[in-house]
Amino acid sequence: MAIVKRTETEKKRKRFVLISRTIFVVLFIVSAFAFYVMSAKTYETPAYITLERDWERADKESDERPATFSHLVHQEMFYCYVCHPSVFKMGGNKMVHDDFDKGKFCGTCHNGTITWHVDDAEDCEICHK
Ligand code: HEC
Ligand code: HEC
Ligand code: HEC
Repeated sequence: MAIVKRTETEKKRKRFVLISRTIFVVLFIVSAFAFYVMSAKTYETPAYITLERDWERADKESDERPATFSHLVHQEMFYCYVCHPSVFKMGGNKMVHDDFDKGKFCGTCHNGTITWHVDDAEDCEICHK
């Protein structure tokens, strides 16, 4: 009689273990998938972005091509929040060189202190490709 009882408790224990394992596996798969979706969305960033020209303020005489920003290069050097949203919105920023001189946009870092000054670039084509 005692032996029968023991096997029944054993069965219950095994079932309990099986159920908890299943719950664990299901939770693990669901959260791994959620994490994958979230991170894929977060890092859906372009390698290069061609910036829009602010034609209202820009020097209209110049035939400089629109500036291209190497997003990936910068994103590998800095956390997103270094630039977003305080320095740049994630699109539709309007900037001219006067803003850089005032330490805004690219001039936040390309000021000769944090890194090379916009005006000290060897070639305009470094940015205006
Ligand atoms: C560090 C990157 C960088 C360098 C170097 C650079 N520019 Fe720009 N420039 C920009 C960005 C960014 C904009 C804004 C987007 C646009 O209008 O192309 C811009 C805009 C301009 C504009 C339109 C706005 C304005 O201020 O009139 C002209 C003209 C211009 N650049 C000329 C030049 C010339 C000439 C040189 C070289 C002496 C140069 N740029 C070097 C990044 C740069
Ligand atoms: C050095 C500054 C800088 C860093 C760091 C940075 N970004 Fe950006 N990001 C920009 C600039 C500049 C633009 C162009 C905005 C525009 O077009 O007006 C941009 C644009 C974007 C866009 C819009 C893309 C598009 O197709 O127009 C997204 C999304 C974005 N960034 C996300 C991120 C994420 C996520 C990170 C971190 C992994 C990050 N950024 C890091 C400067 C930065
Ligand atoms: C948060 C600081 C920061 C901001 C904002 C920033 N840069 Fe940079 N950028 C850097 C640093 C640091 C380097 C690396 C310099 C080196 O290699 O010595 C760099 C390198 C570059 C280079 C050379 C490497 C390459 O990608 O070819 C270009 C061009 C450039 N930046 C353009 C821009 C333009 C255009 C903007 C504005 C739209 C901008 N940067 C805004 C920090 C910044």
